[in-house]
Amino acid sequence: MDTREFESRLKEDTERAEAVLARFLPKETGCQAGLMEAMNYSLIAGGKRLRPILMWETYRMCGGGRDRDVECFMAAIEMIHTYSLVHDDLPAMDNDRYRRGRETTWCVYGDAMGILAGDALLNYAFETALGAGNNYLGKAEQEFPEAALSGAGRVWSALSVLAVKAGARGMIGGQAVDVTAEKLQSDITERELVFIHEHKTAALIQAAMMIGAILAGASGSQVAEIEKCAYNIGIAFQIQDDILDVTGDSRELGKPVGSDAQNHKQTYVTLKGLEAAGSQVEALSREAAAILDGFEGEHAFLKQLILNLIHRRK
Ligand code: IPE
Ligand code: IPE
Ligand code: MG
Ligand code: MG
Ligand code: MG
Repeated sequence: MDTREFESRLKEDTERAEAVLARFLPKETGCQAGLMEAMNYSLIAGGKRLRPILMWETYRMCGGGRDRDVECFMAAIEMIHTYSLVHDDLPAMDNDRYRRGRETTWCVYGDAMGILAGDALLNYAFETALGAGNNYLGKAEQEFPEAALSGAGRVWSALSVLAVKAGARGMIGGQAVDVTAEKLQSDITERELVFIHEHKTAALIQAAMMIGAILAGASGSQVAEIEKCAYNIGIAFQIQDDILDVTGDSRELGKPVGSDAQNHKQTYVTLKGLEAAGSQVEALSREAAAILDGFEGEHAFLKQLILNLIHRRK
């Protein structure tokens, strides 16, 4: 795939993710309108929308054809990811004041509203994903009982992946070990660092791609391959994030650099050095791309996207 073709597909995918998210934004009404405003503040701030794009592309690669289901989950995964950032920036966590090119939610709305907006985004994500189940209730059930059953089963299975990968055994678990490790006086081991990356970052990327595959009707073994592929992407993504915290440009990133050093965070960069960290990103990404070649569906763009992330600057 040449650069022009790649850029135009990336633009198309990003616009699709933005449009889907816009359809599901909470309405700023009622006495709690200020809460919805804080939720929307972080959601519409932008970001790469990588997780919904990965979900969509995996869904297409696996032959998905019922777009309304996957759209509910594309919005939901971006809401969960956004809430994780809103909480990650709080003074009690990374204490960062800049995100997605603007002041962080807690800076604008205060700590309490930052906590509540994050909580509400998590709940609203599940409310949104549950909407996919509504596509199988009522008329469809009578007219196409088998399709309704398989469709509802896929939605159920996707919901359970979303719940587990976002929770104590997934992203939140990783964030918990991450903040605990900051307080340690001793060095953490590479194994512990991989645990943190696998959970705080790879889990949501796995959820995004696995849900795309599940909703498209992929087999159990295909979903397991996607889980492995997304594991590699996720670890590589966090190592590159740690590299950019040292070598990146704050304006380009839309978030501060030097946050990890300020928090005395041990990362791949502090453990192995910049060069070895960079080689690790490349090796993991190439492994992820090779796994995709086991799939028959069209995946030239997805593969290129994974490889381009090796050199991302934001
Ligand atoms: C930032 O994620 C947090 C990490 C998991 C490293 P992204 O780099 O995907 O942030 P946005 O969505 O583009 O803002
Ligand atoms: C956070 O990792 C990952 C999340 C689950 C939010 P970082 O703390 O390194 O993410 P950034 O650099 O603030 O985006
Ligand atoms: Mg953090
Ligand atoms: Mg952070
Ligand atoms: Mg970081």
